[in-house]
Amino acid sequence: MQISLSKQPLPGFPTLFPVFQDDHTDARLSQIAAVSGLEKSVLESLFRGEAKETLPLPGSSGTLWLLGLGKKTGFREVRNALRSFSHRNKSRLPEGINIDIQGIETHAEAMLNGFLLGLYELGQHKTEEKKPLLLDQINLVSEAESPDIQSFITRAELTAASQIRVYDLVNAPANFLRPEDLGVRTTELGTEAGFSVRVLDKAALEAEGLGALLSVGRGSEFPPVLIVAEYTPELPDSESLPLIALVGKGVTFDTGGLSIKPSTNMHWMKSDMAGAAAVIGTMDLVARLKLPVRLLGVIPATENCVDSHSVKPGDIIRSYSGKTIEVIDTDAEGRLILADAVSYAIKNYQPDVMVDLATLTGNCILALGYHAAGLFTQNETLASRLSAAGDICGERVWRLPLWDSYEDELNSDMADVKNLSGKPVAGAITAAKFIEAFTGKHPAWVHLDIAGVAFSDSEFASQRSATAWGVKLLSSWIEGIAAGEKPYI
Ligand code: BES
Ligand code: ZN
Ligand code: ZN
Repeated sequence: MQISLSKQPLPGFPTLFPVFQDDHTDARLSQIAAVSGLEKSVLESLFRGEAKETLPLPGSSGTLWLLGLGKKTGFREVRNALRSFSHRNKSRLPEGINIDIQGIETHAEAMLNGFLLGLYELGQHKTEEKKPLLLDQINLVSEAESPDIQSFITRAELTAASQIRVYDLVNAPANFLRPEDLGVRTTELGTEAGFSVRVLDKAALEAEGLGALLSVGRGSEFPPVLIVAEYTPELPDSESLPLIALVGKGVTFDTGGLSIKPSTNMHWMKSDMAGAAAVIGTMDLVARLKLPVRLLGVIPATENCVDSHSVKPGDIIRSYSGKTIEVIDTDAEGRLILADAVSYAIKNYQPDVMVDLATLTGNCILALGYHAAGLFTQNETLASRLSAAGDICGERVWRLPLWDSYEDELNSDMADVKNLSGKPVAGAITAAKFIEAFTGKHPAWVHLDIAGVAFSDSEFASQRSATAWGVKLLSSWIEGIAAGEKPYI
């Protein structure tokens, strides 16, 4: 897709006019009246500017589309209005389109990002010939002389491209994305975007002693891997930059193992690697933006399947940290593989700050619904920075406690810890407490439970599909660190 910025619309192509429903509407409709040759009063009678409302009008040099942005001016609302427009109209768009951003340039990133996301094609496995997308040029139109607009455009475009890579990974069915495939895909992206990737295979995991990851992987013929990705910018003082570790749960399919899940909606569990995909997408984006930070991505990737070799309820396993774990429920596999991944990251890399993302518990969905991810940390600075970044971009987080009084739930009679509390309450918190036990009291660790936000119902698909949740949140937070914010105490 070619993306340009110019003072005049490209002739012969339609022009989209996004319009807020506020005190800006009046001036905007006057502008549209002038180019359309229609009376402003006529426009006012046809169009109110409500979110996602569209009005096509004939114009002398191509169709004009009015698109309502509604009253709210948040990043998410603006992005979704444009995404909705391009999603609904992609099959009828010609080779080029103008988007008039005059007077609303500060929303350029949200608008272009949404427009590009709306062009995403889910039906990649359909065999029926489909109408190809003709559109290959988007021209943003503004007379403003601000150098910021070009940087908004670059960020919108690179962010959409990384988010679409995440859609592809999370939407991929388990038979198209095995744990090893996730390693191959990350390696390919690393080569394209500029970060290095090592994939520890089963033999390496055995040699290094990642017993928790190996135990979850035992029930599958497709072996587990640990993916380790590193991004260091090409700068003279790069070694002195802060090291940010991102850890993502990469369960490419979660049957529950021998503690098997009910079959209704089990197909959703192809998305149990959405944390891993968010880590990969964020690394991809940060590397392409060439941000001045060091990033480490650690992804434990495995299937959780049923087999005579599967780990059994009651088994005791030895994790990478040396701690022994009594496996009460094999469906609580995410915390097992994260235990190994966080202790591997800390022992081998000593990151300054560490965020793990995981589709970890149904209980987090019970607490927060599909509106926010659960955020767990003992670090006040990190909690407020991530909450603020989430409020701005619309990928919201809500903090839940990590008090020590929850810890007793994890005491095992036979091993150092057990992977499931005996009580049917506070499951998202006890899962977070379990992971915390493997962080060695790291002062700047955050856990994000993304079970409710990573794979959702939306107007863009008839069934649940990937949201790429986390890429925008983490990349905006990392941009703050790149600009000099101290992310930790
Ligand atoms: N992958 C699931 C959590 C999940 C549930 C993600 C729904 C997305 C949507 C996780 O591995 C799991 O099975 N968790 C169990 C934990 C329980 C056994 C303590 C759960 O939430 O039921
Ligand atoms: Zn599970
Ligand atoms: Zn799971």
